[in-house]
Amino acid sequence: MIQLFKKFLKNTPIYPFLLRFQWERKKRKIINGWKKMGNPIPPPHLIKQETVKEYAQKFSTQILIESGTYLGDMVFAMKDVFNQIYSVELDSDLYMKTKERFANAQNIHIIQGDSSKALPDLLSLIKQPCLFWLDGHYSGGITTKGALNTPILEEVKYIFAHAVKDHIILIDDARHFIGQKDYPTIEHLKELVAKERPSWVFEVKDDIIRISKFTLGYPIKINNFEGFKRKILDRISMKVILFSNKIILFIVNKEFRIAIKLWFRKQGNKNLRVNYELNQNSIVIDAGGYQGDWAFQIYNKYKCNIFIFEPIKSYYRKISERFAGVGKIQNINFGLGDCDIERHISVTKDSSSFYKKEATSSSEPCRIMSVKRFMLERDLKHVDLIKINIEGGEYDLLDKLLDSGLINQFGNLQIQFHKFIPNAFLRRRKIRRILSKTHYLTYNYPFVWENWRKK
Ligand SMILES: C[S@@+](CC[C@H](N)C(=O)[O-])C[C@H]1O[C@@H](n2cnc3c(N)ncnc32)[C@H](O)[C@@H]1O
Repeated sequence: MIQLFKKFLKNTPIYPFLLRFQWERKKRKIINGWKKMGNPIPPPHLIKQETVKEYAQKFSTQILIESGTYLGDMVFAMKDVFNQIYSVELDSDLYMKTKERFANAQNIHIIQGDSSKALPDLLSLIKQPCLFWLDGHYSGGITTKGALNTPILEEVKYIFAHAVKDHIILIDDARHFIGQKDYPTIEHLKELVAKERPSWVFEVKDDIIRISKFTLGYPIKINNFEGFKRKILDRISMKVILFSNKIILFIVNKEFRIAIKLWFRKQGNKNLRVNYELNQNSIVIDAGGYQGDWAFQIYNKYKCNIFIFEPIKSYYRKISERFAGVGKIQNINFGLGDCDIERHISVTKDSSSFYKKEATSSSEPCRIMSVKRFMLERDLKHVDLIKINIEGGEYDLLDKLLDSGLINQFGNLQIQFHKFIPNAFLRRRKIRRILSKTHYLTYNYPFVWENWRKK
């Protein structure tokens, strides 16, 4: 009976959607499982695939160039993402196997050779920005070793010397970059990039070195949703979605305008943002310290312990001067986030953000500290209040607190959500839905300020 039903389903037009749904569910399970374990390195291949996909979508690259085809799993996963895929494999057996695997795909080109030798010829065909997935290295087993364990420095040099200057480079296995077995150190590679592309972003995350003109700015999960949404929309009707997006935007903006009016009418800054049941033993985190005004008010009122996170050097220095000699206030020159990472921040007074760039703003490299690491290193079991005003970073940070269960260690969360992040409305809604299981809302001025208190 079940077999019959399955056979029937296979012949219906909804079958591809069911398969897609099943795959998305499986993917989510793998990604969530990996996150629950604390993002161990190396990540599952799926995370690498999602990263390549995410960069391809964000930077609209049509061509993937991979070094190290191996069994062709990355090629296979990307076959519908890119218009053209070139992959170079040194080992002749692996080359033959993958050549056969993709024999029917016109847009997939498997090339045999040492990638450091094959790249110049390949690059001579290229006239537009490509995404490079550099993964051609000796890895034991059935893989092959060329003149070097890894030709990465040669590869990167060829890419930088190419006439097209906007290629995106992703390099797998960052953990091997320790200056041994032909691998440069991360620092060495970073210096090379800084020399060739001084304003570019050099990031290391999930064991992948990412070299690109701009930072991605938002996480895989949402981009998946974006891609998925885009495909469905294409098939059903783009207009319907555009229209509903407009409606959502209209509602959010309307709600925001009302909220901001009410906030000022109620004098929220004075009456709500500094009123908590705190005492001199309380622990407070100020994520996004700026000039320390909020921390100043809270400290004056409760004389509690405050950790201020401020990634921008000039503001950090100002706060340090302001609270010099106040032992209970610790000023940390990091942003607070979901992982340890270095990123460029666009500096625009109290709107400085890793996620948006104003035409007039300058940019500076900043460090972000994972909230999990911070809590562990400081041995913090309970935080009475965290204020989060980090210009778009709140979504990643809150996702991390919720995913990891750390949320239970927070008494109050005072949050300012920002609208300029892609899918801000949906992300806020999801965060609030999960947050409401452990916390209740004490005040709510959408996209202005809201506070959640532990149940
Ligand atoms: C880690 S595997 C690649 C996995 C594949 N990129 C994926 O994501 O599914 C590394 C591959 O690089 C190949 N390799 C080693 N040195 C190479 C070189 N100099 N040029 C091209 N390929 C190389 C190895 O034979 C091996 O198949």
